[in-house]
Amino acid sequence: MPTTNSPRAVASLSPTGQPKPTQSFYEAVGGEATFKRLTDVFYEHVAEDEIMRPMYPEEDLAPAARRLKMFLEQYWGGPRTYSEERGHPRLRMRHAPYVIGERERDAWLRCMRAAMDEVALPEEYDQAMWEYMVRAADFMRNA
Ligand code: HEM
Repeated sequence: MPTTNSPRAVASLSPTGQPKPTQSFYEAVGGEATFKRLTDVFYEHVAEDEIMRPMYPEEDLAPAARRLKMFLEQYWGGPRTYSEERGHPRLRMRHAPYVIGERERDAWLRCMRAAMDEVALPEEYDQAMWEYMVRAADFMRNA
């Protein structure tokens, strides 16, 4: 299932009704600043979550926040820094060391919902991103 590498583009109309050149989802939602805020807030919630926090091997969550940011930017049509630095995402494989059951999936999604609420994308973008997050989190289950 395409949880890691589908480029997204959205068509939109200018106020005069003329089609604008196709813009990536990444650009349409505000580019780097939006993804930085989303992943920073996500990890603030992870740091406070009793299910999530113990799963992280590193003391400092900033490097993990950066990896998630780069991954999501790439997925939504932004820079491809994630693959340049980390290679193919292979996210299921990278999550294999962690036991991810329903409980962990739901905890991850709670942190992500809180982060998305804070970033508050326009409705249709919020919906598209949330549907992806739910699908991707379920895909990561291994227990
Ligand atoms: C479903 C529950 C999930 C749990 C409990 C979980 C937990 C973790 C943990 C403990 C790490 C290691 C920290 C690190 O080195 O970065 C990690 C890494 C990562 N996770 Fe998750 N994760 C989940 C779902 C997801 C989802 C849905 C995505 C993407 C939409 C995602 C994207 C990533 C990325 C990009 C990394 C870094 C991979 C790398 O090493 O390059 N995770 N996750």
